[in-house]
Amino acid sequence: MIDPFGRRIRYLRVSATDRCDFRCVYCMGEDMSFLPKADVLSLEELERLCRAFVRRGVRKLRITGGEPLVRRNIIHLFRGLGSLLDGGGLDELTLTTNGSRLAWLAADLVACGVRRVNVSVDTLDPVKFRAITRRGRLEVVLEGLAAAKAAGLGIKINTVALKGVNDDEFDRLVAWCGEEGFDLCLIETMPLGDVDGDRTAHYLPLSRVREQLSRRWTLLPSNHATGGPARYVEVAETGRRIGFITPMTHNFCESCNRVRLTCTGLLYLCLGREDCADLRTPLRAGESDIPLLAAIDAAIARKPKGHDFVIDREHRRPALGRTMSLTGG
Ligand code: 5AD
Ligand code: SF4
Repeated sequence: MIDPFGRRIRYLRVSATDRCDFRCVYCMGEDMSFLPKADVLSLEELERLCRAFVRRGVRKLRITGGEPLVRRNIIHLFRGLGSLLDGGGLDELTLTTNGSRLAWLAADLVACGVRRVNVSVDTLDPVKFRAITRRGRLEVVLEGLAAAKAAGLGIKINTVALKGVNDDEFDRLVAWCGEEGFDLCLIETMPLGDVDGDRTAHYLPLSRVREQLSRRWTLLPSNHATGGPARYVEVAETGRRIGFITPMTHNFCESCNRVRLTCTGLLYLCLGREDCADLRTPLRAGESDIPLLAAIDAAIARKPKGHDFVIDREHRRPALGRTMSLTGG
């Protein structure tokens, strides 16, 4: 699949559920309403959709949410998709998780062919962790990480940089990741979804974080690339990488190789835009994948060039109404 700007689309992110056991302040409101269960695709339907994308050239699948591991029987989806690894057309099957259920599921994920996970940890302070996630427990996530490590999964920690919240912890996070053997990925807050509170208050450009880190650590340029939008450096002292995802201060759209599928079968062509294609209708039209493949082709043909996020005092409203928990990051 090649889009109108010559970008080859090889990467599909799939939100398996919009539900989550956390309510992170930058992601959700306190009282979230979730999608009606009837609108959500079954795991079999999600698998069929993913298989259609793999037929169309997708090589990497990332299962996200919400929190993918809170969906009942989610391991069936991983098992089905894992069978496409090793010659079935798929190079990598991975997930983004908040880690709350990893202690239970890490070994099963490995058995399905998952090799790496991204786990969101914004702070190592249990009190702050509770405040950011509103209902998560750091201890449980740390147990999940230990289980994932023991099961042999490669681990990347995702940390959203929040001014006045975790900006005093980046050195500690780098040191911790070094000790544990994790990579770290720092993310700027994006104006997604109508969450409570003023988002401009916590926006922290990563250029500043990088400058702060370089006072304590030797940051070596790295040309490591995972197919994602992060730019990497290597920390000489720990030998681990730090990625910076800077959707706000640096436009990363030129090399975008991905599209996003929601759990209701909407295909978003860009994280930062409203335009999407309904794949549920062609999926449910019948047994044949022909209408579905045609709908996928038509959607890719209108992938937009890029997004145009703004966070400033004049634009307090979110750039988009939908939250990350719907499109899966
Ligand atoms: N801005 C930046 N990152 C976000 N995430 C969720 N919502 C936002 C937002 N508005 C992060 C999560 C997770 C990753 C998939 O996206 O913390 O680490
Ligand atoms: Fe859940 Fe992730 Fe959103 Fe936090 S950021 S509420 S863990 S989906």
